[in-house]
Amino acid sequence: MANVAVIGAQWGDEGKGKIVDWLAERADVVVRFQGGHNAGHTLVVGDKVYKLSLLPSGIVRGTPSVIGNGVVLDPWHLKSEIEKLRGQGVDVTPDTLKIADTCTLILPLHGELDGLREDASGTGKIGTTRRGIGPAYEDKVGRRAIRVCDLAHLDDLGPQLDRLTAHHDALRAGFGVAPIDRAALLDQLREIAGFVLPYAQPVWRMLHEARARGRRILFEGAQGVLLDIDHGTYPFVTSSNTVAGTAAAGTGLGPNAVGFVLGIAKAYTTRVGSGPFPTEQDNEIGERLGTRGHEFGTVTGRKRRCGWFDSVLVRQSAAVSGITGIALTKIDVLDGLDEVSICTGYRLGDQVLDYYPSNASDQKSVEPIYETMAGWQESTAGARSWAELPAQAIKYIRRIEELIQCPVALVSTSPEREDTILVRDPFAD
Ligand code: GDP
Ligand code: IMO
Ligand code: MG
Repeated sequence: MANVAVIGAQWGDEGKGKIVDWLAERADVVVRFQGGHNAGHTLVVGDKVYKLSLLPSGIVRGTPSVIGNGVVLDPWHLKSEIEKLRGQGVDVTPDTLKIADTCTLILPLHGELDGLREDASGTGKIGTTRRGIGPAYEDKVGRRAIRVCDLAHLDDLGPQLDRLTAHHDALRAGFGVAPIDRAALLDQLREIAGFVLPYAQPVWRMLHEARARGRRILFEGAQGVLLDIDHGTYPFVTSSNTVAGTAAAGTGLGPNAVGFVLGIAKAYTTRVGSGPFPTEQDNEIGERLGTRGHEFGTVTGRKRRCGWFDSVLVRQSAAVSGITGIALTKIDVLDGLDEVSICTGYRLGDQVLDYYPSNASDQKSVEPIYETMAGWQESTAGARSWAELPAQAIKYIRRIEELIQCPVALVSTSPEREDTILVRDPFAD
């Protein structure tokens, strides 16, 4: 019996939320380990739609949920997300949700800085979610962050606040923005502390105990490997490591705690924000994928860019993240196409590459090499077994497995929780 880490194998929005919710039925605890409320995970249960950004997707089923130390946490967003979920009838209490007291806080100044930088970048902008994720991680690594545990000791924060404000006031001056109002910031923190602290604890202890008792831990990744700060399309990436290895460091469990790594990949490709995208279809095909797949960002509402499945990128994601099996989602979006294409390599000048080059200008210049096969006219939507899939769709899935050198463990055929085909049980591995 394995613990399972769910991670995105493309540029995010692969359907991690749906798969985590589905697996959470059999998990004893669900834990987020990186990112913050830049994530947008959608769960569809009957006629209810839940959109989670910061809370682990297990919370909707009532599975004990944990926000690990690797997450950057906006306490005001936490409050509003909890209140919104309560409004939808989901119970969130310190019994069902635990937050690592070592999480770095996202402060209002981080969101402000994120926005100022984006606005000043013109055509070079990253296209961030403007939620302060990058600036908060910078402060964490720069050792001037305020953490959840500090909320219980706000009067002792003097020297740390000195470091934080000195750094940010210099940056703000460069943008012509007023320095930080330290008293106002402390007041805001005092006000929110009472809400956050009942959830806070050294969560590594309860995770170790859960592990020692043989409980099943489900690690919920955010974003995707191609947005990873090291392995992604730098600089058009997020500010955390999104690969499965982070599940250990971001929770306080060792690497041997992560068993089956389930990479989530769409049957095509999408990207929101700037950056290279070799198989992008800025044409009728892209429009069709976007319309049928409802490809609009959960967090920002931005239209997602759409294109063909890129087996080079997913093979690379599987390699750098140690993916054991893939959950292939949104196969139904390809229903009714005459032909479907898969990228199998790149041309760069007179070279043919079977990997994605590291340099940003090479990443932009590569020309995809496609393999095209017949599509299928039958519907896959709502299929719950292989037998319900048309032969041509099975052929497409098998070809993807071959190209990415990784088996398909699950296939998802609609947004609805139960419309999922189980091929190989990740927990049983
Ligand atoms: P996440 O960030 O990886 O959790 O993915 P998002 O929730 O941002 O985006 C995935 C979208 O696709 C959501 O609207 C899901 O409800 C939807 N979705 C997930 N799986 C499927 C599927 O198999 N078919 C279809 N049509 N939609 C799906
Ligand atoms: P989920 O978990 C898709 C993208 C942003 C931008 C880049 C940096 O729903 O898959 P950031 O705000 O993190 O500094 O933005 O990363 N991005 C995502 N794209 N899905 C996400 O999360 C994303 N989180 C960040 O659009 O290009
Ligand atoms: Mg999303």
